[in-house]
Amino acid sequence: MADSLRVGDEDPRGLTRGARVELTFDEVSIEAYAGESIAAALLAADVRAMRRTRRHEAPRGLFCGIGACHDCLVRVDGSAPVRACLTPVRDGMAVTTHVLGEGGPS
Ligand code: FES
Repeated sequence: MADSLRVGDEDPRGLTRGARVELTFDEVSIEAYAGESIAAALLAADVRAMRRTRRHEAPRGLFCGIGACHDCLVRVDGSAPVRACLTPVRDGMAVTTHVLGEGGPS
């Protein structure tokens, strides 16, 4: 797993990492830490595409990072689409790519 975007275990600011959790993204196992958003966990795992556009299936991913653009929509355990940048990880969650127009905003 790529940890290039995560602070190392020896954070000079004294921050501590949350408990390790595991989720899947499109059935691939991804390591994450409690307190991270789904988007943060996906980026740390080198996943950039979180949804696909309806017409051209073009990849979209983290853009604003604050919940405004909806480019990071994913599905969690078969739910309606949620914003990956605002949704915290939890152990065992099954996250899948969202295709715009399939059960959510179009
Ligand atoms: S990245 Fe814009 S809403 Fe999540």
